[in-house]
Amino acid sequence: MSHGGEPMPMESRAAGPLRGMAEVPGDKSVSHRALILGALSIGETRILGLLEGEDVLDTGRAMRAFGAGVERLADGEWLVQGVGVGGFHEPEDVIDCGNSGTGVRLIMGAMATSDLTAVFTGDASLRGRPMGRVIDPLALFGAQARGRRGGRLPIALTGAANPVPVTYTTPMPSAQVKSAVLLAGLNAPGETVVIEREPTRDHTERMLAGFGATVAVETSTEGRVITLTGQPELQGRAISVPRDPSSAAFPVAAALMVEGSDITVPGIGLNPTRAGLYETLVEMGARIDFANRREEGGEPMADLRVRFSELTGIEVPPERAVSMIDEYPILAALAALADGPTVMRGIRELRVKECDRIDAMARGLEACGIRIEEGTDYLIVHGRGPRGVAGGTTVSSRLDHRIAMSFLCLGLAAQAPIRVDDSAPIATSFPGFLALMRRLGADIAA
Ligand code: S3P
Repeated sequence: MSHGGEPMPMESRAAGPLRGMAEVPGDKSVSHRALILGALSIGETRILGLLEGEDVLDTGRAMRAFGAGVERLADGEWLVQGVGVGGFHEPEDVIDCGNSGTGVRLIMGAMATSDLTAVFTGDASLRGRPMGRVIDPLALFGAQARGRRGGRLPIALTGAANPVPVTYTTPMPSAQVKSAVLLAGLNAPGETVVIEREPTRDHTERMLAGFGATVAVETSTEGRVITLTGQPELQGRAISVPRDPSSAAFPVAAALMVEGSDITVPGIGLNPTRAGLYETLVEMGARIDFANRREEGGEPMADLRVRFSELTGIEVPPERAVSMIDEYPILAALAALADGPTVMRGIRELRVKECDRIDAMARGLEACGIRIEEGTDYLIVHGRGPRGVAGGTTVSSRLDHRIAMSFLCLGLAAQAPIRVDDSAPIATSFPGFLALMRRLGADIAA
């Protein structure tokens, strides 16, 4: 649902060390896909550990509007009754995807090869984000879209009555675009091929195969080539969602920042297309132990022990950006407490996330007393060491959950409290964030 409520200001301040167990919720990317692929399957899909954040709940409501049964059985346990590939009904009303770029782009893909029309919208943040990147490839299947200038929501999308399969090279590294094309390819006859120059998160490919689709992945000189055979009969199945490495990044970072901290973060998904932050932190000198490495439901995971660490600024390899794209806000906050500059290049895509994240972090960190250099696709944070962040300011979260959480974590190690003007967006991805942080010992209050 679009945020219509009152802003919820929140303030964090330095207190004792963080201790204990940080059980973060289910992976957002995997949760969206589980609902959508469950809806496109025959029979029942039982999901354990679904993220019950607003973004995913919006996708669940959307799947119901397209005709699937979506029912909550218990905490994190959901049952989806699918309609099968090509079985979507025409929704009676506008589909509101709230704050979620992943939700709207994947659902547009999933319906683009069905003979029906749906109208999509979202909150002020989502209405400002570019949708041309999915509308353009979906038009190649025969879908037709009308939206606002610049490919902005609201958009009415009419799916192709007689879809043709498509071969598409994604112009930017985007798992959402790749996934939209693959989901559209499900109801097109023949083979749909997506080529990506840089490998982005591969949950869609893994999960499509798990539901019984034929998906071949090859590496060629052009990049990663994913070939999907259209019109499969997907079979409902049981899915266990790993805990979200992007959400885990916040308690992990907070423990690294606050002296004396020692926390355990169990069952974190460490799919290599997602785990770039953890590699970066270790290079900066973070004391993180990865125990009990295992694989569950096709996704690698481990239990993390994280202790306070004095970090050193580094140059993050730009080719790693895609595997940690959502983690730059919290990395920038950590970099402020590291010794020396942290250089982050190849991060142009951050400009079109829930907000312009380069600008949001740069302005917020400057207000906290940190020197910044920035350009279209880079950010350099001049760290001042573990006690070097002044704080004592109010930062705007710009309808962006990760900006809000990044500054609330930073406030735990700043000389004076940091206030975030609106913490409500945190509920889109991490509804239990405040409770979890307080249980660990963080001083975060309204
Ligand atoms: C996501 C892909 C990424 C990421 C987003 C989730 C996904 O977006 O930033 O939070 O689940 O496919 P892009 O596809 O725009 O890179």
